[in-house]
Amino acid sequence: MLMKIAPSILSADFANLQRDIEFVEKHGADYIHVDVMDGQFVPNITFGPAVVQAIRPITKLPLDVHLMIVNPERFIHEFAKAGADIIGVHIEATPHLHRAIQMIKAENVKAEVVINPGTPVEAIKYVLPLVDQILVMTVNPGFGGQSFLPEMADKIRELAKLKEQYGYHYDIEVDGGIDDQTIRVCAEAGANVFVAGSYIYGAQHPEERINALKEAIE
Ligand code: DX5
Ligand code: ZN
Repeated sequence: MLMKIAPSILSADFANLQRDIEFVEKHGADYIHVDVMDGQFVPNITFGPAVVQAIRPITKLPLDVHLMIVNPERFIHEFAKAGADIIGVHIEATPHLHRAIQMIKAENVKAEVVINPGTPVEAIKYVLPLVDQILVMTVNPGFGGQSFLPEMADKIRELAKLKEQYGYHYDIEVDGGIDDQTIRVCAEAGANVFVAGSYIYGAQHPEERINALKEAIE
């Protein structure tokens, strides 16, 4: 399985986004993870479609857009138009998850469902055949720099097992508290896309952190 590292620009320097995106691209990042927060679904506010549109031309890497907003279907078209390659919607943010996924696919964008730490895999059973990626939150969404929740490894194992059993095609992504230790736990459980914010951007030498993550799962 192809392992991918997705630096989260939530921990980048917002006044130097171009510099910080180009830097991780040059040092082996596979995706750019973009955390969109609305101050309602999560207690924090970040950026909207205009920022996605602004960063689109500065990188060739796929933009992995994680929507932490209520009723995300309201903005799927906007984010697709802005250049998102993957759009993730939380099951906890909409009563119409299935429709939201159909809407993402209709935009020819990869569709992702995201589950909070308190949400069981069972809740997304009926969309598993539809999605390209599943994001298992390994912290409660809203902020960078929180501690990894090790119990989430069970969910990853469950999703990996279902994938194998039914021949589903989704990637399994993890987000929150990922470092060179926790990434191993997640990779062993069956995850293959790893978001890391503060571990990469909070370091003096982010390139060493990207290497450490890659080495940990080799
Ligand atoms: C949290 C965001 C994460 C965040 C992770 O709500 O979804 O993508 O950037 O940050 P770290 O890697 O610092 O836990
Ligand atoms: Zn995220």
